[in-house]
Amino acid sequence: MSPELLQAIALLNNNEVLAMPTETVYGLAGNAFSEEAVAKIFTIKQRPLYNPLIVHIKNIAYLNTIAQNIPDVAMQLANAFWPGPLTMVLEKKDCIPDIVTGGKKSVAVRIPNHPLCLQLLEALDFPLAAPSANPFGKISPTSAAHVHKQLGNTIPFVLDGGNCERGLESTIIGFENENPVLLRVGAITQNEIEKTIGPIKNIDKYNTEILAPGMLAKHYSPNTKFIVTPDVEKTLHQFENLKIGLIKFCKSENNKNIHTEIILSHDGNINEAAQNLYSAMHTLDELQLDIIIAEKMKDDGIGKTINDRLQRAMAE
Ligand code: TXA
Ligand code: MG
Repeated sequence: MSPELLQAIALLNNNEVLAMPTETVYGLAGNAFSEEAVAKIFTIKQRPLYNPLIVHIKNIAYLNTIAQNIPDVAMQLANAFWPGPLTMVLEKKDCIPDIVTGGKKSVAVRIPNHPLCLQLLEALDFPLAAPSANPFGKISPTSAAHVHKQLGNTIPFVLDGGNCERGLESTIIGFENENPVLLRVGAITQNEIEKTIGPIKNIDKYNTEILAPGMLAKHYSPNTKFIVTPDVEKTLHQFENLKIGLIKFCKSENNKNIHTEIILSHDGNINEAAQNLYSAMHTLDELQLDIIIAEKMKDDGIGKTINDRLQRAMAE
């Protein structure tokens, strides 16, 4: 085992928290069975206590340790997508303290698909509660450097696992009378899920506040003013006297008003665009720009998740 991994294990066994890599975004992790460790996560993140955390487990068999009355369809999803960026909200067992779940009787759980993170989980005799490792409401981190920038002064350690392969948070599924409901769009598309278990209900038709607390309109936000537009050319004209940063999907914009432009995927690959999105937002946010303009993606597949995050980054 590497010295870094040993250090992470020692800290977590000692009720400390640290940043860990996952395939989606970096997480701010602590012992999910320890109120003391979990309280530290909320304090460091400045996260309101009503906003519950995701519990990361090492394998499917471990699910029974923390959840009960698991619907058959949830097991189908677990077998199809774990380890991977799918989180399921299930009835919790008593070993999960209320502070993890914001007082709810349910717990959100997933198996992350990142070798170093899985090695870490294997070495511990408890699961890890972890929200994304960013200050509340800010841009999620997809590299160790992003975490150092945002939380470096407040956490003892960042376990560096490279750049996150997916770059967007997990998809969250809840259950109503054993029927799956999509609570948060994420790195796995609705279509991929429906190929496995058939049509699912979408949160759009439900009350987000009650089902997934913390799914706030404003989230994932740079400090710089941020605008999403389907018509980049027109929006550039609208703000032509400002210092502009631009995030485009695949084609460069020929316009002298742009200070810095970042192309998410030169090949027009939407998965690569997803992987690079938060990094582009972090980079532009450091340039003292007046405004960041982002191109809206085609509202389909993973483009839907990108648009969701862009929309929340823009919200007032
Ligand atoms: O990809 C991810 O999911 C990343 C990595 C680190 O795993 N984590 C992440 O956590 O995005 P966070 O805290 O940023 O978002 C967790 C969301 C909460 O905002 C809430 O909407 C939902 O999960 N959630 C957690 N527990 C829940 C529960 N018991 N019932 C309903 N929603 C829950
Ligand atoms: Mg988050």
